[in-house]
Amino acid sequence: MNEHRLELRNVAKKFGPLAVLGDVSLTVSEGEFVTIVGPSGAGKSTILRMLTGTDKPESGDILFDGRHLKESSASFAFMPQRDALMPWRRIIDNTTLGLEVQGMSRSQARAKVAPLFEPFGLAGFEHHYPAQLSGGMRQRAALLRTVVQDSDMLLLDEPFGALDALTRTQMQEWLQTMWTDHRWTALLITHDVREAVFLSDRIYVLSPRPARVLREFKVPLPRPRTLADLGSSAARQIETEILESLLHHSLS
Ligand SMILES: Nc1ncnc2c1ncn2[C@@H]1O[C@H](COP(=O)(O)OP(=O)(O)OP(=O)(O)O)[C@@H](O)[C@H]1O
Ligand SMILES: [Mg+2]
Repeated sequence: MNEHRLELRNVAKKFGPLAVLGDVSLTVSEGEFVTIVGPSGAGKSTILRMLTGTDKPESGDILFDGRHLKESSASFAFMPQRDALMPWRRIIDNTTLGLEVQGMSRSQARAKVAPLFEPFGLAGFEHHYPAQLSGGMRQRAALLRTVVQDSDMLLLDEPFGALDALTRTQMQEWLQTMWTDHRWTALLITHDVREAVFLSDRIYVLSPRPARVLREFKVPLPRPRTLADLGSSAARQIETEILESLLHHSLS
């Protein structure tokens, strides 16, 4: 019995001559919220694309519940970095999309997503189009579509990257509340170090290309966390150390 749900062992990846991932090893355990931070172009989205099967590692192993990914029945619910919603589909039809792709009938899928519109702050907007929602609402709709899929693991690629600071903070608090209720096993990618500290059990810091893990942090803050907890010396210390490792390595 393997204690980790997901394990990357010495994963490397090139695109032609471009070495993107140098040597990446990381783990995510059941019910754990793990975040990857790293410079732009380091290969963070590439890691998620390897998990969803869009890209393949050059070398190294990806294991799920101790089995090689391609031999496992692992299912990932993936929220991509961009274009998460289809503009021509109503919100209700966007949120059922993942379930329909899995083979569920439209009526079953609608019944399944319906109770989530209220807690996701989308009640009354089921029949709107994405362009008729605010940025925060669109991101919540994309998250709703992702979490409703009953997958083994959530993969979130910069879910709040395009939002203003206030909306982003509200979304972080909201995501923490939802995560506390559901305890999804989650792998988040973000550029926002405070967001990483606020949401995560553990944080991996990647180097620039070819990426390797520079540091790993366990976030010792009790849950549920408040914004005030980010002012604690433990939180500030981690934030500073992450920023220092990112800055130091991007200048070297
Ligand atoms: N299909 C591809 N073909 C060629 N190069 C690619 C491909 N996908 C990604 N790359 C390159 O790999 C590198 C890493 O891309 P990736 O999207 O994983 O970075 P990232 O860490 O997610 O960056 P960001 O923080 O800006 O989103 C980039 O230089 C990118 O140009
Ligand atoms: Mg990316």
